[in-house]
Amino acid sequence: MTTDTVQPATESYVFQGTINKKPPHVLDGQGVRMKIEKNGKIYDDVLDGVTGAAVGALGWGDEDLPAWLEKAAKNHTYTFPSLIGNPASEDLAKFYIDNSPKGAFAAALWCCSGSESNENAMKIIRQYQVERGCPEKYKIISRDLSYHGFTLGALSISNCARASAFKDILIDQEKTCLTMEPCYPYRFQKKGESEEQYVKRLLDNLEKIILDNDPKTVSCVIVETLPGSSLGTCPSPKGYLPGIRALCNKYDVVFMLDEVMCGTGRCNPNGKLNCWENFLEPEDAPDIQSVGKTLGSGFVTIAGVLVGPKIRDAYIKGSNAVFGSHTYASHGFNCSVALDVQKKIQAQGLTANIFKMGNLMGSKLQDALLDKDNIVGDVRGIGGFWSLEFVKDRTTKEVFPAKLDVGHRFQDVCFENGLNVMGMQGNADGISGDIALLAPSFIVTEDDVNEIVKRVVKSVEDITEQLKAEGNW
Ligand SMILES: Cc1ncc(COP(=O)(O)O)c(C=O)c1O
Repeated sequence: MTTDTVQPATESYVFQGTINKKPPHVLDGQGVRMKIEKNGKIYDDVLDGVTGAAVGALGWGDEDLPAWLEKAAKNHTYTFPSLIGNPASEDLAKFYIDNSPKGAFAAALWCCSGSESNENAMKIIRQYQVERGCPEKYKIISRDLSYHGFTLGALSISNCARASAFKDILIDQEKTCLTMEPCYPYRFQKKGESEEQYVKRLLDNLEKIILDNDPKTVSCVIVETLPGSSLGTCPSPKGYLPGIRALCNKYDVVFMLDEVMCGTGRCNPNGKLNCWENFLEPEDAPDIQSVGKTLGSGFVTIAGVLVGPKIRDAYIKGSNAVFGSHTYASHGFNCSVALDVQKKIQAQGLTANIFKMGNLMGSKLQDALLDKDNIVGDVRGIGGFWSLEFVKDRTTKEVFPAKLDVGHRFQDVCFENGLNVMGMQGNADGISGDIALLAPSFIVTEDDVNEIVKRVVKSVEDITEQLKAEGNW
């Protein structure tokens, strides 16, 4: 057989990113280090500072993975989950529930991506309102400058450039998907305004939106516990999340947290799973929560929705059935591998490790960057999830012009210095503002942290010099 189509070596067959050009390809990896081919050049000691998109928990080449895959492959081919379930999905749900504060969650649905989990959560909440006899409750409130995924439902509750690009085909943004203020102290807490006053202002804004839109029709409030690819890991000020919980209680509104990026052990202060344990007492737990990313450490495509007892009970008292499902929901193979991942993380205390090592990384970066002459305006985060925010002027917090694309340029500079980070743009107003995210795997050691910090600092110095030489700083 002959073929007359010749694919140039650099041409890509994958319809993603820059379409006609191959992105860098990973060839191999071990622990927190990767070997990458980029434009024909091999980079064999790239430190994985962000594990893809805050996905990797166990790093590269985990020695137990082949056995987990073999076990999962032997026990699971496929069944349609609504008709015939599998023990692994039950066990994974029980594991997550048991390792969350008592009474917080009562059931879980497993899906294949964070977007799908938010999409499903929106439908679960809608059906919940119908099941309990409140069909008039349909309005969803989410935050400005947020990101909840790339499916149309998830984009409809996101408020960023990725969502505005598709605004004409999203769920109605005037009547159904309403927007409240973002919680972003670095940029939006006013001069002279105390933390308490700022929180009050944000909560007053939410309460006004609920009241202006007829509380009887408001169904839920959805926020990222610790935003990531939207604002860049801004921990919310004291009282903010409890305040949202209280407003949800007051107006009979479902409180939903999106922990797709920040959850499942990345930022937990108690060696457990949920990020919200930094901010909320167990009795203030969300009614429903989406998770993903580190659940399967990137070995399998798995994410999920954790359902609180209030919602589960309403369904059981109602139709006792979930309308519809996805072919690959609660997939046995994925659930089995994810459960093994989570058990290893638990047995080796890796959630506690990443909390400690990540905070060490953050404080070293703050010390090394914030009082030096460079473009870093802020370094913030919790546990294993941190960001740098770049500004033209530290005092005024003026952003760089969007066309300079400083976030992505920083990502490239880091790569040349042997570090994988995620550069992003649009944090300040949806279009401009530059950040870089760091989210190493949970196995990171103190030596790795020191090396990450060294490479970040060198990259900040390099890009600062470049911008200075161009007359852009
Ligand atoms: C907070 C948040 N929610 C949802 C998603 C969507 O997850 P996925 O890309 O797995 O669909 C992301 C992705 O980064 C996210 O950061």
